[in-house]
Amino acid sequence: MRVVRTVAELRGVLAPCRRDEALVGLVPTMGAFHGGHLSLIRRARAECAVVVVSLFVNPAQFRSGEDLDGYPRDEARDRALAQAEGADVLFAPDPAEVYPSGFQTAVEVSELGRMLEGDEAGRGPSHLRGVATVVTKLFNMVAPDIAYFGQKDAQQTYVIRRLVQDLDMPVRIAVGPTVREADGLAMSSRNVYLTPAERHRAVALSRALRAGEAVAAAGESDPAEVLAAARAMLDAAGVEPEYLALRSAADLSQIERVDGTALLLVAARIGRTRLIDNTLLGVPEANPASLAAEREEAPA
Ligand code: PAF
Repeated sequence: MRVVRTVAELRGVLAPCRRDEALVGLVPTMGAFHGGHLSLIRRARAECAVVVVSLFVNPAQFRSGEDLDGYPRDEARDRALAQAEGADVLFAPDPAEVYPSGFQTAVEVSELGRMLEGDEAGRGPSHLRGVATVVTKLFNMVAPDIAYFGQKDAQQTYVIRRLVQDLDMPVRIAVGPTVREADGLAMSSRNVYLTPAERHRAVALSRALRAGEAVAAAGESDPAEVLAAARAMLDAAGVEPEYLALRSAADLSQIERVDGTALLLVAARIGRTRLIDNTLLGVPEANPASLAAEREEAPA
């Protein structure tokens, strides 16, 4: 596996693949790899001739006061894990390579970027603007045929699909299922911040999703009832959600009824750690292949 730090070096390494028309897969990450990242790298390895993993803690998607400085970083560990999964290239640029002096462009997906995570009460519109900007840059740098993202960051996958469609980018977006700990907690690089007591409470998020799934699966179509079932699980653990929402799985718009394509999303702070999770109602998570296939085909 080659470790490259500059765009020029990256293009040089990928030039022979372009000549051979080899399928290039990109797994964009901010490092601190867990099972979710590894499952995406594994899938890219199975589907592509060349696998590029990017490792860049993107300052543009952190609000001031967020955990940019303390964000877990261990490049040596990530390098070993990416290599073990068969990645060909680890692209780990410095911030000045991505945002050189004088940089002033931003990519904003206006509606999708301002709801839920992008709400002022959440991480604010700068968060998904920062994600859209860096992902656009990574797509221009790597020119992947397929780019792989995790379902846990559901809203970011909608933003990325939208910008790919709106800006006519020739890249296919693949979304892999959320990988969970044995008790249901969604794997996240930020889970390392949780104290043992907080780790115990954090499982309330996935329990809330399972409760929502259960009432929807039993035939409940009133969003208020599904949300109430989920909310009861959070209340029982003393977890106050930043948002708990049911949205259309097609475009994250508000819905009047729960049908087979609704997305239940939650964000909450457990102590100082902000966690998010979501589930597609009507799609069994036990069958990740069908989930991934459905998300890949979902309209942007
Ligand atoms: O999901 C992430 O880790 C980041 O938001 C991404 C897509 C790598 C952009 O920095």
